[in-house]
Order: sequence, then structure tokens, then C-alpha cells
Amino acid sequence: MIDAKKRNNNKINYVKYNVSLDKFGDGKKFFVRTYGCQMNEHDSEKIKGMLKSVGYVECNSVETADIVILNTCAIRENAHDKVFGFLGVLKHIKDTTNPNLLIGICGCMSQEKVVIDEIMNKYKYVDFVCGTHNLDNLLNIIKDKIDSNTQQIEVLSYEGDVVEGVPVVRDSIYSAWVDIQYGCDKFCTYCIVPYTRGKQRSRTKESIIDEVKKLKEDGYKEVTFLGQNVNAYGKDLYTDYNLANLLKDASDIGIERIRFVTSHPWDFTEEMVDVIASRDNIMPYIHLPLQSGSNKVLKLMNRRYTREEYLKLYNSIRSKIKNSSVTTDIIVGFPGETEEDFQETLDLVNECKFDGAFTFAFSKRENTPAALMKETVSEEVKMDRLHRLNEVVNKYSNERNKAYEGQIVKCLVIGPSDKDDSKVCGYTENMKLVNIDGDKSLIGQIVNVKITDAKSFSLDGVYVK
Ligand code: 5AD
Ligand code: SF4
Repeated sequence: MIDAKKRNNNKINYVKYNVSLDKFGDGKKFFVRTYGCQMNEHDSEKIKGMLKSVGYVECNSVETADIVILNTCAIRENAHDKVFGFLGVLKHIKDTTNPNLLIGICGCMSQEKVVIDEIMNKYKYVDFVCGTHNLDNLLNIIKDKIDSNTQQIEVLSYEGDVVEGVPVVRDSIYSAWVDIQYGCDKFCTYCIVPYTRGKQRSRTKESIIDEVKKLKEDGYKEVTFLGQNVNAYGKDLYTDYNLANLLKDASDIGIERIRFVTSHPWDFTEEMVDVIASRDNIMPYIHLPLQSGSNKVLKLMNRRYTREEYLKLYNSIRSKIKNSSVTTDIIVGFPGETEEDFQETLDLVNECKFDGAFTFAFSKRENTPAALMKETVSEEVKMDRLHRLNEVVNKYSNERNKAYEGQIVKCLVIGPSDKDDSKVCGYTENMKLVNIDGDKSLIGQIVNVKITDAKSFSLDGVYVK
């Protein structure tokens, strides 16, 4: 992590995936568990794609699997605890019913030195670890483990190449993730991502556009562009091509829905707002992390904007992009946050009335600048602020959702409803989850739905022709 902190001028190579091995997984089953963000979900689709390319098939329980891979997240301490808890379950299976079970760890936790030390010393039953920068080498690592029968750990401090053409098995046949950029150079002081995912590397515009064209030909209705900081897309690669250009070019392909996550206010230009506002197939949904409403705390976080600048961008999005919804991320209990600072966050939430917010108690991440800050906030105060914040956040989610009652909205139906199997569910253009009275033949279509009831986290509706 100490090496990973340094940004270097190493040239990033753009290379084709080039692993060809015999079908050493023939007749065997895999189970992949994913923790964390959408980028990890898409990485898991690549892990599954690679495993299938050598003959493994997916199964849905760890008891029947020959290989289990945990694709981990390091963003907060509780993500760690979940992974180590689950490793205990896997150890039990290995000790009792399946001594040949292979256990592997990928994802952000594998880039943390403390985790690797722990795995080498205490978790000897973990068979292999593959870092985030060398994910494309996963099959070789597994093969080496099988051939040598010794624990394999391959993690790079520095980002590797941008690898195109990694096999992928997508979870959905309607909606697809598309990486546009890897890594992050923002170094918010609480965040571990710039260390675990390395410096920002954009994919070329040609590779992205080709992927979107192919997805459209394959019948996909929706693509979601992924990056830690999508608004900085292209900065490391081009002087005259940015997210606004990419969105326009993707929109011209004519795929029905284009989305993107996650945005950073610093790189979000008016030009981008105008492009989103002017194109019907760029969805009016923006996830715009705020983190704090206090200028003092924003500065300590190294967020590079003030509450006034955030509000200006927020108001521009709301006024220019019609029917837009905006969600956010907020951290409470950052070191040095006083009750007055927290009140400023509440004030801003009262002003913005977000459609929704993911709220977090500050979690100390080893080796980040915030971990060394002295004025820590007690767990009790953090939890109290979190509860108070959630109450306000939920009030506005509810209010925003209530405004949809009686309206007819367009939904992309993605599958059966989790709540009621006789119903289906889907997402509106502005990313509201709707449980829909309608039959399963609607799955995969964009249909009109009349909203009948609104809750804080979802809407109910009925399919209308
Ligand atoms: N503690 C608490 N929340 C964090 N996040 C990132 N790092 C931390 C941390 N150390 C939150 C931020 C970010 C979201 C993905 O996770 O709000 O936007
Ligand atoms: Fe972390 Fe900040 Fe980069 Fe987001 S922008 S990944 S919060 S460092």
C-alpha cells in the first residue's frame, strides 16, 4: 500500500487478454460471492467468464462447489468482518465434507498488506489470492495452485495493463455493466480505493463504443458506464475527449438506456449536464456523493469542493435535466466533525431533498490520511448522527416518491419481484425501483407503468398498455 500510494509515470499498456489453458475445470463447479460496489459485480462477471472458459460450471451453494472465490471489498471495516466470517464457514466445509475445496480471494482486500499478512500467517487454508491489478491472470494462479499444491499469492503494488477481451458472463441479458475507467487519483483522505485500485486509467473510446455497439446488437436495452470517478474519464488519455463526448457517442448508437456511476462533483462540468439533458437515452439519474455539508470537513476530506459549489452543480442538474433524480453518499463522524458541522450536513440535506442517500459512519482504513487524524468521534456519537441523518433522508425519499403516485412512467422490467413472486419489478428512467402488477412476459421490455403507491425505497405500480 505504501508503494501504491505513489503515482508513477509508468506507461499504461493496452493489451488483449491472452490466457489459453486446457479445460482443467471440466466437470467441476464454482461459486463466486461478491461484496461491495458495482465495479466488483462486474469483476465477478469476468471471474465467472474466465472460470467457464476452462470448463467450470456455476453452482448456487458452497456445499456443492469445487472452488469458491470471494470477490472482496475494503471500503469499510464491516466489509472485512463479513469476509473473514465467511472464511470460517468455508474452513468448516474443507475440514469436514470437502477437503479438496479450493478457496480463493480477489478484490480490494487482496490489495491490503495487513490482509495478506493475516492470510499467510493465520489462514493457511486459503488456497490463492489474486490482486485487482492482475485479475486477468486468475486462471494461471489457480492452475499453479492445483499443480504445486502450495498457497499462491499474486498481488501487484502498481497497476498493470488495461486488458481488453477478458471473457465475461453477464448476470443479465437486458442490462450490462461497461467499465470505462479503472482506479482513482482523487485521494479523499478517508478512502482506500486509490491504493487498492491504483491510478486512474481510462479505456480507449474505441473499445468502449465497440462494446456498446455489440451489446446493442445482442439485444441489451441498457448499459451502465462504470468508474470510481466517471467524470474524470479520458483525462489520463486524451486532451480533447471527455465523458460528455463519450456519452454523446454512446447515445448516437441508439441503445435505449445509458447510465453511469459514480460521479465526483469536482470533474462534473456544465457541458456534461447539458449533454445528459439533451439526450433522451441518457438516463436522468445522477449519484452525486456529497460526503459532508461542512466546508471544514470537506476540506479535511480533501473533497476539493465547498458546499456552495456542490449546491450550484446540484441546482443546475435539477433545473436542466427534466424528471431527474439525484442520490448521494454521506459520511458521519469523520475525525473533527462537530455537532455544528453535522448540522450543516443536515441543513444541506434539507435543502437538496435527495431522492435517496447511502449513509455511513466513518470507518478508519489503515494507512489512509484520515486514519492518522487525532480528533476522532466516538462510536456512540457516530451512531446517533447516523440515525438522525437517516430520519431526514428517509423523509425526503418518501416525499419524492409520493410525487409519482398516479403518474405513468417507463420501466425496464428486469425480473420477478423480490417481494411478491406473482409480480415483476423494474427501474424507471430515473432509477426508482417499481414492483409491478404484470406478468413475466414483460421481463426484458421497457413498458408503461401506472404508479399506485409509494414507499421510501420503492414504488408499486400496475402495467398499462
Ligand atoms: N468510512 C466510511 N465511509 C466510507 N466511504 C468510503 N470510504 C469510507 C470510510 N473510510 C463511503 C463514501 C463513498 C462510498 C462508496 O463509501 O461515502 O462515497
Ligand atoms: Fe474514494 Fe474519493 Fe476516489 Fe471516490 S473519489 S473512490 S471517495 S478517493
